[in-house]
Amino acid sequence: MSYSPYIYVAIPLSVAIALGLARKWRSRKWGKCMSNICLRGKTYLITGANSGIGLETARALVKRKARVILACRDLEKARQTAAEIRKEELGGELIPMQLDLASFESIEKFVELVKTGFYKIDCLINNAGVVAPLSLDQKTKEGFEIHLGVNHLGHFYLTNLLLDLLKKAAPSRIVVVSSMLHEKGTLDFDDLNMRKQIEDAKKGKSSRRNPGYDNSKLMNVYFARALAGKLRGDGIDVYACCPGFCYTNLFRSFVKWYHYILMAPIALVYMRSAKQGAETVVFCATDYSVEGHTGKFYRECAEYAPSYNYNKEEESRLWEMSEQMVKARRPL
Ligand SMILES: NC(=O)c1ccc[n+]([C@@H]2O[C@H](COP(=O)([O-])OP(=O)(O)OC[C@H]3O[C@@H](n4cnc5c(N)ncnc54)[C@H](OP(=O)(O)O)[C@@H]3O)[C@@H](O)[C@H]2O)c1
Repeated sequence: MSYSPYIYVAIPLSVAIALGLARKWRSRKWGKCMSNICLRGKTYLITGANSGIGLETARALVKRKARVILACRDLEKARQTAAEIRKEELGGELIPMQLDLASFESIEKFVELVKTGFYKIDCLINNAGVVAPLSLDQKTKEGFEIHLGVNHLGHFYLTNLLLDLLKKAAPSRIVVVSSMLHEKGTLDFDDLNMRKQIEDAKKGKSSRRNPGYDNSKLMNVYFARALAGKLRGDGIDVYACCPGFCYTNLFRSFVKWYHYILMAPIALVYMRSAKQGAETVVFCATDYSVEGHTGKFYRECAEYAPSYNYNKEEESRLWEMSEQMVKARRPL
């Protein structure tokens, strides 16, 4: 039996059109920040601004004429990012700076420099994040498990060191970029560095999930809520948010070449671009409607009520232990 040659074009074309339509249908529900407010004179600081959601957030803020500090692990990448954004956006100001959240020394040096150059910060966006297989047993300079150290502890330390600059700009904001995966997190306070699970992962007993990442995203939410409570009355609002499932560099340590082929249909329908993911972050950082709603979680540019009750006791315990870990400069 022979087929018409047209069929070899028609089938892939129909599949591509169907996937395109399915994406269009789904994307109707993806949040969009409608605020187009002019941010001239305001200083924003974004961690991990050289890639993905951080880069697109920086682009959106500078488009609104803000001064944006691009706090990046690699200064050269930060400079390239500024140059890339400048090709399209001429307003605002872009300031590339070096910050490695996996090193307390780097955080301290960075804050010292920020304090010499800026007298206030209107909004701090804790965006940088890492996902790495537990079996690799990656650690920060001080020996903290990498997800705990970078995604939570580095930002915890940075934020606390910058509070006086944020107070000077009140009403100001802190946006903590978490994830819906925080709902999968479970904290073992006797083993925040996850030694047991890392040893299991090294023996090949790892689960399909990455509990290190999920836990760090739960820590982000606890941190945002605890900080909001502590800063009530200081004019600094704190929000946690989820950008949605986005196509960025985040999963680079997991992705193999064949994933691109296998995942392409899913990516096409379900995954947002980094620009689409940045919408809720920009919303939390700029929209008037969230002012005063400190301690809330946002997704799709709207307040989100979590599907379970937060554990206030865990929230306080994490804060205390984070303070102790920063003070000790080593895992407890
Ligand atoms: N993509 C998603 O589907 C998704 C979903 C929910 C939440 N999120 C959250 O969104 C945030 C942004 O992630 P993304 O998707 O945009 O990923 P990305 O493209 O990989 O960006 C992550 C950024 O974090 C930086 N970073 C990593 N380790 C760092 C360190 N030690 N010090 C300073 N910066 C560091 C990276 O710098 P380098 O380029 O130098 O590595 C990069 O700029 C993360 O907090 C992530 O958890 C993402």
